[in-house]
Amino acid sequence: MAKLTQDMKDVMEKSQGYAVATCDKDGVPNVVPIHFVKVLSDDEIMLADVFMKKTLENIKQRQVMAVSAWDYGVKPRKGFQFKGVPSIETSGKIYDMAVAMVKAEKPDLTAKSAVVLKITDIFVTSPGPNAGKNVEEIA
Ligand SMILES: Cc1cc2nc3c(=O)[nH]c(=O)nc-3n(C[C@H](O)[C@H](O)[C@H](O)COP(=O)(O)O)c2cc1C
Repeated sequence: MAKLTQDMKDVMEKSQGYAVATCDKDGVPNVVPIHFVKVLSDDEIMLADVFMKKTLENIKQRQVMAVSAWDYGVKPRKGFQFKGVPSIETSGKIYDMAVAMVKAEKPDLTAKSAVVLKITDIFVTSPGPNAGKNVEEIA
């Protein structure tokens, strides 16, 4: 299973938002911009759900998700795509973390749930010879 490296965590830290893709049971794709994202461990990230609708419906229908993060402030540009299995938490420590993360920046908003992505595969999106490669293919 792929693990987040410090380099990947740095890119996530600098990412100007995240593109979050899901898919319904018929294969219809959905991609939305998400701001509130936190690294939980070397193979888990959390997304705070404040306004998600179709994303949640899709997760319930089909447990697949891809998240893209990029650093636009470096040259050459850097980016990674994280794929894995999402789950939805509406109580407990991780949910409380999502609520606190949103409140810290936007006190008037409340997270409805925390979406936890268990990462299974990581791909390079940085332009260049490794673009599109699974990081496990790159020594
Ligand atoms: C820049 C930007 C950042 C956003 N960040 C979040 C976020 O962190 N959490 C969230 O729930 N919605 C966020 N939204 C709103 C969702 O992207 C939006 O409500 C979207 O329509 C949800 O789509 P869905 O119904 O397909 O899940 C953001 C929107 C923009 C434009």
